[in-house]
Amino acid sequence: VTETFTTRSVRGTVKLGRELAERFGRGDCLALVGPLGAGKTVLVRGLTAGWGVPDERCVASPTFVLVREYEGTLPVFHMDLYRLDHADADLPGLGLAEMLSEGVVVIEWADRAGEGLPKPHWRIDIEPTGPRSRTVRLAHVV
Ligand SMILES: Nc1ncnc2c1ncn2[C@@H]1O[C@H](COP(=O)(O)OP(=O)(O)OP(=O)(O)O)[C@@H](O)[C@H]1O
Ligand SMILES: [Mg+2]
Repeated sequence: VTETFTTRSVRGTVKLGRELAERFGRGDCLALVGPLGAGKTVLVRGLTAGWGVPDERCVASPTFVLVREYEGTLPVFHMDLYRLDHADADLPGLGLAEMLSEGVVVIEWADRAGEGLPKPHWRIDIEPTGPRSRTVRLAHVV
């Protein structure tokens, strides 16, 4: 089952993230997929706000550290695999299982992890459909 959402502004994508956050919690892995500038990080800002992370503005792509952790109502682990050359092989070694035992994990460029992603996980595809419009698809991958 795939759910489809449409947003027409950055604020709309943040709002969608805040609303979707209510569905997920400790042990959930969200795999974000979409091209450069699709809005993955914008959606993560909404998700973290929904999980009670105090200042949504400090959420940025964890480009140089691989994982950033935020404290909300639960621990939030934010990863970006864009610069990881062998993400499928490296992901388990980053402590993913431990992160999932503590909180929720959100991964940008998750398609780079291939079979390294945990099962089940939630896949979120973001497709730019215009300068300010985005189609967001949510699917449970088991
Ligand atoms: N409806 C929208 N939702 C999200 N972002 C939008 C929207 N319309 C325009 N944008 C613009 O698209 C860009 C999204 O940037 P963002 O950093 O979230 O992308 P990303 O998918 O994380 O890219 P990267 O792969 O580089 O990490 C921003 O410049 C933002 O202003
Ligand atoms: Mg990003």
